[in-house]
Order: sequence, then C-alpha cells, then structure tokens
Amino acid sequence: MPTTTATLLDTFHDFQPDDQDFLSAVVDGLAAERKSIPSKFFYDEAGSRLFDEICGLAEYYPTRTEMLILEKFKDQMAALAGTHCHLVELGSGSSIKTRTLMQALDRPLGYIPIDISRDHLMQSAQSFSQLFADVPVAAICADYTTAFDLPAIAVGQYVGFYPGSTIGNFTPDEAVVFLQRLKHKLNGGGLLIGVDLIKDTAILNAAYDDARGVTAAFNKNLLVRCNRELGADFELAAFAHRAFYNEAECRIEMHLVSTRAQQVGIADQVFAFAEDETIHTENSYKYSIDGFHTLARRAGLTPVQVWTDPAKLFSVHYLSAG
Ligand SMILES: C[S@@+](CC[C@H](N)C(=O)[O-])C[C@H]1O[C@@H](n2cnc3c(N)ncnc32)[C@H](O)[C@@H]1O
Repeated sequence: MPTTTATLLDTFHDFQPDDQDFLSAVVDGLAAERKSIPSKFFYDEAGSRLFDEICGLAEYYPTRTEMLILEKFKDQMAALAGTHCHLVELGSGSSIKTRTLMQALDRPLGYIPIDISRDHLMQSAQSFSQLFADVPVAAICADYTTAFDLPAIAVGQYVGFYPGSTIGNFTPDEAVVFLQRLKHKLNGGGLLIGVDLIKDTAILNAAYDDARGVTAAFNKNLLVRCNRELGADFELAAFAHRAFYNEAECRIEMHLVSTRAQQVGIADQVFAFAEDETIHTENSYKYSIDGFHTLARRAGLTPVQVWTDPAKLFSVHYLSAG
C-alpha cells in the first residue's frame, strides 16, 4: 500500500517496488533463452553511490557534458519552462543537475523528484530542500514505468526533467510508450530531456568500461544485490563485466559474462550457465537529433528546442506536451 509520510521534506510518497518484484524479474530473466535482468535493479543504495562515482570518471563524458549544456543554456530552458512551474524529475538520483536548472527557474512552485532508489532519494531530496528552502519538495519513491500519481497542483504547470540519457535504457518502442504516458501526466506542460548522441565507437566503449573498473563494480553489484536480497549464490569472481557498442542497434550493451560453466541457485530454482554465456544487464541507446525528434513525435510530444555541446557529444531537448 503506498504511504505518504511527513518528513524533513514536505511530503514523501512511497510506491517502492517490493522484494517479490525483484525476485520475479530475476527468475523470469534468467529462465529466458537469452538471460537478462532489467537495469532498474542496479539502483540499490550501493548502486546509486557507484553511479555517482561513474559520473566523475574521465571516460564518462555524458554527465560533465550535460552539466555544461545546462549551465550554458539554463536561462533559455527556464524561459521555456515559464513562471510557476512544478519541476518533476524522473530518475532524480543525486539531483545535482537540478540545482543548476532550479537557480534559473522563475518562481518555481515545487520540486517532485521520482526515483526507485529509496534511501538515496530521501538523502538527495533533503539536501535539495536545504539548498532551496523556498521550494516545496514532494519526493516520490516509485518505479516510474509502473503506476504512480503526481501531487495535484492548483496553480502553475508541470515541467518534466529527465536528464542523464536514462531514456536510452528503454528500447525505442518502449521509450515511445513511456513518453506517451509521461505526456499524459505532464498535462500540457513541457519536458526537458537529456539524450546521448551517436558518436565514435571508441569514446562510447571507454565510457562504459573505465580503466578503474567502477562501471564493472556497478554491473557486478547487481549480483551482490541478488545474493543479499534474494539469497542467491552467485560466485562474484566467476562473472566478468563486458560492455560494447552494438552499431547495428545504436546501443551500448552491458553484460555479466560467466567465465566458466556453473550453476547458480536462487530461491528454490537452479540456473545453469555455459562458459561465456551472459546476463544482459543494460542497454543504453544513442540517437541522432533527428532520430530523437522522430521518436518524440511518435509519443505525441513536439520538439521545441535542442541544445548541444560544441563536439556534439550530448543533447538536451525541450519538448512540448501541449
Ligand atoms: C543513469 S541514472 C541518472 C541519474 C541522474 N538523473 C543523472 O542525470 O545523473 C538513472 C537514475 O534513474 C533511476 N531509475 C532507473 N530506473 C528507474 C525506474 N524504473 N523508476 C524510477 N527510477 C529509476 C535510478 O535510480 C537512477 O537514480
């Protein structure tokens, strides 16, 4: 049952998926002919911390590039968002990029961060509240691909903020369905969305397979989480991180590779792995600007403006949901 709790924040709405959802997703994913686990399960507290570490890596250009774009064009973005907006952030993580945007917004009436990673969301929302004491914060812990409600608003409009190219974790068809649902929730407002661009394969591969092995630890944390929360017996040393750009599909794929033939127990089931068999753990689709505009239009959203960096590594789009 969703609960609403008064905390240091103005409100906290808890629709957190339960352990049963995680267990069913893992068991179904490992029973399939091509094994996979949905990437949203990366984000327990340790996964969220590891993702923040990835954001600071030299190889991981998306975060710093998107930050530069936000910093440079925040006034134009704020003008499109209009006065009195309620900023709804999807997959808010540490809410760092939000700070840059919030400084530029004209008399915002609220901040609504939504994330699946409960403790991290609470901490980030509280830090945000301390920085922007005049902006009411209504945090929502939810899997945004399932049902959740936005707080009703009497004045102003919702503006969605979906940075980090997290939209790339969906296949293009899934992204259209997700954006259609989001458009409906935004109820005529707009959406500011970060989208990673197609580029040189070597830059892409390095971004998802860094020299210090932080992305490898992030990927393997999924197995740590399965062991801790589901009582699985994954032997961590017998799985390796693999990430590569699949040019035909325009996506980075992340996998966990079984380094030998082995069996893994989860709940009352046993899953056999052949040597070199993989668990597909994440896709990160890359787009051209035109390609993303086509996708947005399929979802009923209207491209209004796009900003990029000089090297055209990353893009931020303002889409109208009207
Ligand atoms: C790639 S990180 C981006 C974080 C931050 N927005 C940024 O730009 O750096 C993805 C974020 O989305 C959250 N997330 C992923 N899948 C989600 C889902 N299905 N529902 C809610 N949050 C999700 C994760 O917990 C994480 O904070």
